[in-house]
Amino acid sequence: MTEPVIALRGVRAELGSRPVLRGIDLTVHRGEVVALLGANGSGKSTAVRSVIGQVPVSAGEVDLFGVPRRRFRDWARVGYVPQRTTAAGGVPATVTEVVSSGRLARTRFGLFRRADREAVRQALELVGMADRAKDSVDALSGGQHQRVLIARALAAAPELLIMDEPMAGVDLASQAILADTLRHQVSEGATVLLVLHELGPLEPLIDRAVVLRDGCVLHDGPPPKAVGQHALPGHDHVHPHAPAGTEPIRTGLLS
Ligand SMILES: Nc1ncnc2c1ncn2[C@@H]1O[C@H](COP(=O)(O)OP(=O)(O)O)[C@@H](O)[C@H]1O
Ligand SMILES: [Mg+2]
Repeated sequence: MTEPVIALRGVRAELGSRPVLRGIDLTVHRGEVVALLGANGSGKSTAVRSVIGQVPVSAGEVDLFGVPRRRFRDWARVGYVPQRTTAAGGVPATVTEVVSSGRLARTRFGLFRRADREAVRQALELVGMADRAKDSVDALSGGQHQRVLIARALAAAPELLIMDEPMAGVDLASQAILADTLRHQVSEGATVLLVLHELGPLEPLIDRAVVLRDGCVLHDGPPPKAVGQHALPGHDHVHPHAPAGTEPIRTGLLS
């Protein structure tokens, strides 16, 4: 076993006065690709946001690269792609501006040098958006927008990549590009924590799956077979064509 890149031990978090994480353990080792699964509201986003310090933790410990998160300063090692919301931002930025913002942690005093501009260009190249570099992000489709957010995370060449539902609302062409991009990062040695609704096209890349239910870890091990929205806790799926009087067919390992 290698040194953990992410280690959560007994982590609890409350939002409002509601317990959202009720003592979760989550470890991601160097070079691993871990999927965080679970029904809507099970605490997936809160768990990853606790890793990057966007959610206060009321109990337990969070370590990043072996350092307690409160003392961790090396944020250029971490790329984070938040869950996309439909809320429109303020002033529309260009694709290059958004991706450049992801490079700031690697610059000195925010001053862009040739290597920084090159890193931004390469990240855009990787996600197939180089030809849209000067466009306003407002003009992009959902899938293209997501590719830009991923390029922003990649621009700092992070060792750890955390993505919250990167495939949600993304067209099939963009999904294929995202899967290729991720495969490339993994082959370069990146460690990845992915929040997913279903394994989908990323399934071949996933080493381990952690399934949350109501803020607790329900499963930690091999990716559940044929996992999909229907197979996840909270999505118990009764086939509509089940003959009357028979036991409902439940799909998936975990339902
Ligand atoms: N800022 C917030 N304030 C209060 N409750 C929240 C907040 N964010 C999320 N929650 C609640 O916490 C629970 C878990 O949310 P979340 O971590 O986003 O779940 P998931 O990502 O698995 O869908 C949900 O019930 C949600 O309504
Ligand atoms: Mg979420």
